Amino acid sequence: MAHFLILLFLTFFSVPVSCQMDEFVYTGFGDPNTNISLNGVAMIYNNGVFQLTNETRRLIGRAFYPSPIHFKNSTYGSVFSFSTCFVFSIHPEYPKLGGHGLAFTIAPSKELKSGLPSQYLGLLNSKDMGNFSNHIFAVEFDTVQDFEFDDINDNHVGIDVNSLTSNKSAAAAYLGDNSAENSLNLKGSKPIVAWIEYDSAMNFVNVTLSPSSSKPRTPLLSFEVDLSPILQESMYVGFSASTGLLASSHYILGWSFKMNGEAKSLELDSLPSVPGLTKKKHTSLIVSLPIVGVVFILTSILIAVLTIRKIKNAEVIEAWELEIVPHRYKYQQLKQATRGFKGSELLGVGGFGRVYKGTLPNPKTEVAVKRISPESKQGIREFMSEISSIGRLRHRNLVQLLGWCRRGGDLLLVYDFMPNGSLDKFLFDEPKCVLSWEQRFKIIKGVASGLLYLHEGYEQIVIHRDVKASNVLLDGEMNGRLGDFGLAKLYDHGSNPGTTRIVGTLGYLAPELSRTGRATTSSDVYAFGTLLLEVACGRRPIENKAGPEDLVLADYVWNKWKEGRILDMVDERMEGDFDHNEVLIVLKLGLICSSNEPLARPSMRHVVSYLEGEAEIQEVVKAPGAGADEGGFEDYLHSYASSSFDKISSHTQLASGDVDRSFASISTSPLTFLHSMGGAS
Ligand SMILES: *[C@@H]1O[C@H](CO)[C@@H](O)[C@H](O)[C@H]1NC(C)=O
Ligand SMILES: *[C@@H]1O[C@H](CO)[C@@H](O)[C@H](O)[C@H]1NC(C)=O
Ligand SMILES: *[C@@H]1O[C@H](CO)[C@@H](O)[C@H](O)[C@H]1NC(C)=O
Ligand SMILES: *[C@@H]1O[C@H](CO)[C@@H](O)[C@H](O)[C@H]1NC(C)=O
Ligand SMILES: *[C@@H]1O[C@H](CO)[C@@H](O)[C@H](O)[C@H]1NC(C)=O
Ligand SMILES: *[C@@H]1O[C@H](CO)[C@@H](O)[C@H](O)[C@H]1NC(C)=O
Repeated sequence: MAHFLILLFLTFFSVPVSCQMDEFVYTGFGDPNTNISLNGVAMIYNNGVFQLTNETRRLIGRAFYPSPIHFKNSTYGSVFSFSTCFVFSIHPEYPKLGGHGLAFTIAPSKELKSGLPSQYLGLLNSKDMGNFSNHIFAVEFDTVQDFEFDDINDNHVGIDVNSLTSNKSAAAAYLGDNSAENSLNLKGSKPIVAWIEYDSAMNFVNVTLSPSSSKPRTPLLSFEVDLSPILQESMYVGFSASTGLLASSHYILGWSFKMNGEAKSLELDSLPSVPGLTKKKHTSLIVSLPIVGVVFILTSILIAVLTIRKIKNAEVIEAWELEIVPHRYKYQQLKQATRGFKGSELLGVGGFGRVYKGTLPNPKTEVAVKRISPESKQGIREFMSEISSIGRLRHRNLVQLLGWCRRGGDLLLVYDFMPNGSLDKFLFDEPKCVLSWEQRFKIIKGVASGLLYLHEGYEQIVIHRDVKASNVLLDGEMNGRLGDFGLAKLYDHGSNPGTTRIVGTLGYLAPELSRTGRATTSSDVYAFGTLLLEVACGRRPIENKAGPEDLVLADYVWNKWKEGRILDMVDERMEGDFDHNEVLIVLKLGLICSSNEPLARPSMRHVVSYLEGEAEIQEVVKAPGAGADEGGFEDYLHSYASSSFDKISSHTQLASGDVDRSFASISTSPLTFLHSMGGAS
């Protein structure tokens, strides 16, 4: 028996056994003749394990069987049955946070050029999701819950057809002999054996997992699907894995595949193991006796000095900080990246501090580092709110938080660098470059979809509270991304937002906010409405240069609407080159969203469907600022403007801290304030 095993081992080791093209077995990949096509960052270790990705962020790694496999008889048309068995192991950077996962993949090419990292697993991108010309079948082993794809949790297996929204998925588990379900941790750094089988007569795909080589009788997933329209005559089989904000090393230890039959089972014992599990090498010191004393004294001094320095510059790590972890950077790393927070690297100054441009090495990435001013008394609270909320949010229209660092009083947040800066720079005053309507409309739709995700797509309701043009950042492709979550608030779905300090920016604050002090999704919609009008009109929400009747943009647009001349409002810089229909949608929507009455405002879900043209906008019937009977925001603005107009007009884009201050200054004349807010009389 032992001889037989060794023989088997020698025969199979690293060499695909292929009497026919349609069966192969890899028990490790260590042999130099191992024939497998690597792509992206995938690499093979000397001991025969192959790694799809390491723990670096935003990687893609793939490995495919080098030659295409015939999945169909051309004259016959239907797909053959197949089965595969492989052993994988996922080692996350942080024990509880995987990123993102791997997928057994059948695809028309080995390159998958348009595949993106992060939630796309290197397979697809946001544009080709669900497109039938993808011809992709995959079984994902996913360790991040992406709400975009309706993922059930952060430890699931899913069957994917042309999309990353799984057709069927299940929490990772296996059934024991007594058919008790045992859960399985995909990112537990232990080898997991997976079997995927397709029966072309029954049109069933079965997926089975196990922590050992013995295959449970009942599959974890069983899904009825005819793969004939999906698989082409010849296809490549292999694996694709990716990392995102969070990262894991993804390893494959062994793999077998067979057409029209059962793939060879893999014995865990015969497979190589993942190298370097113990990362830190313990170097032993061999010191001869006389030196020991000297070394001891020197070491003591060194330790004392280091301790003092450490206490002074400690990167304090508290328990909650360990819970958060998008990625914790070293202070020195960020200092180097920003060239010591040099003035020349300054990108801007926001409500909470300065933002610097930085360049991180390996791989060279441009980032924006926000340094929170230690003077800011809300600093730490806002900081915590920001990392714990944005750190777990993932959407293509949100500025991604990559990581953070805290050292003494210095709080640093690291974001994706947005090469085109903020939207306001393209809209107001004398923009360097005029945005076309197409660009504007794309930006609006992007921000709407990001905001919808915040309101409905995440496990909690996230209220941004500071939607405005200067918080919309533009990436390299001029996509609008919502940033600056310093003010964000999270609520559980179904709960009632509590009363809080009013924050936000004047001109974007929903009128009821000042009465109720309650930030809601509807007050975000109000701010979004203002943003819509700004983008279409190229004007600030409160224009100091305008006459008193044109002061508030929403009123101005409303007046023009009543006169039937709303298109007069459209930004003249576009020189009439715009889609009238789309502009009308945006202006009307802007008016409805900036309604004084929270209930009259649509939800972001409706906003998105209006913008996508999926639904017809209701008629605009009520003036947005129509507050004659209510004593609305408009009145407040007028009375406020008449008293201290100069002060406020010099910065219409107030930083949030300033808003607090301006409210404080209003409340020094409580009567006017209360009256104009319609609060009491
Ligand atoms: C991970 O892989 C990338 C790309 O191959 C490489 O640049 C990086 O140094 C690797 N990181 C580690 C920690 O090995
Ligand atoms: C590897 O596969 C390619 C493509 O099928 C083939 O041309 C080549 O000869 C193979 N090499 C070895 C060493 O098997
Ligand atoms: C396709 O199937 C037919 C009928 O079963 C068979 O005669 C033919 O040889 C097959 N062709 C290929 C390319 O396998
Ligand atoms: C699907 O992809 C094909 C080829 O890339 C493209 O021509 C087509 O427009 C896409 N269809 C949709 C609905 O996006
Ligand atoms: C699988 O999901 C895709 C995309 O979600 C969908 O288009 C397709 O109809 C589904 N297929 C089956 C067989 O349910
Ligand atoms: C798939 O699982 C079902 C039971 O869920 C079983 O009846 C069927 O034979 C399995 N198919 C294959 C190809 O293993």
